Amino acid sequence: MTQSIKRSISTTLLSSALLFAGISSINSAWADEPIVIKFSHVVAEQTPKGQGALLFKEAVERALPGKVSVEVYPNSSLFGDGQELDALLIGDVHMLAPSTSKLEYYSKQTQLFDLPFLFDDFDAVEKFAKSDAGKSILMSMENSGITGLAYWNNGMKQMSANKPLKKPRDARGLKFRVQASNVLEDQYKAVRANPRKMSFAEVYQGLQTGVVNGTENTYSNYYSQKVHEVQKYITESDHGPVVYMVITNTKFWDSLPAEIQRTLSEILDDVSAEVNRQAYDLNMRDKANIIAEGSTEVITLTPDQKVKWRTAMEPVWKKHEKVIGPHLIEAALNINSNSSSASD
Ligand code: SIN
Repeated sequence: MTQSIKRSISTTLLSSALLFAGISSINSAWADEPIVIKFSHVVAEQTPKGQGALLFKEAVERALPGKVSVEVYPNSSLFGDGQELDALLIGDVHMLAPSTSKLEYYSKQTQLFDLPFLFDDFDAVEKFAKSDAGKSILMSMENSGITGLAYWNNGMKQMSANKPLKKPRDARGLKFRVQASNVLEDQYKAVRANPRKMSFAEVYQGLQTGVVNGTENTYSNYYSQKVHEVQKYITESDHGPVVYMVITNTKFWDSLPAEIQRTLSEILDDVSAEVNRQAYDLNMRDKANIIAEGSTEVITLTPDQKVKWRTAMEPVWKKHEKVIGPHLIEAALNINSNSSSASD
């Protein structure tokens, strides 16, 4: 059963129960006023997530004129990391699309996407997101009042520093900025580097001032934040994805009239497909932009070098597999072995 069908069934059941009990439906709260959806995120508009939020706004306002409007706040302009989830829970914003790395406090299962070298490629990440295992993670924060509506993929992460990172040993002693994820912290500890959790908005300054001297991200996030200007080398490691979960406040979502909720779900399905279709190209465009600027050398690893990084970082899986769920790891590995690249 799809997420949107499940949701609309539960909305119908909830509405019937309230009517039956003689309580006026919470949907009547929206009767006379247009619904405003505040959608906050931390990246630039020209990135996969930035484009997705704008596509969503455009499609919603076209389909539901006068009924629903969407206000998009990019670039941490309303709330940054560390505030946006609290803001969602108290209703100051209605939709977010944080990277799954930032959801650890609410769901350990989301940490699956952080396990280094778990997914062979972008294609495998997308297939996993569409699988039953992937869909189950969307529902893993319901007890905290957060509903996962969709996955948007950005792309695969690369590693950067002011020295070339070719072997795991090259990372020793470097201070790496990571997102707020224990798995990502352990990934850098595994190569004897010093990870430091830091919000996205602080990365450029952190690197410029030497608070950290290495980081990891997708090409679109490097380029749009000008992070490459303060990193001389980017190693194309593809060691893990940046995956977003489009999330909403469960109470807000359940209070929407069923027809509107259904339309929003359908629009999200279309927008998600479009974001995932565009993401690879946007990252390749920004890789080319970085190379063209000439400030940063992009290093390609040999297959043997890549195996060495993988071998050094893989022990992190064992440490986290119990809390994440061995069944999810197995599901991801099965998708790898069935992915198109595996048979190449
Ligand atoms: C994002 O793409 O939303 C930001 C990821 C990060 O914090 O590195």
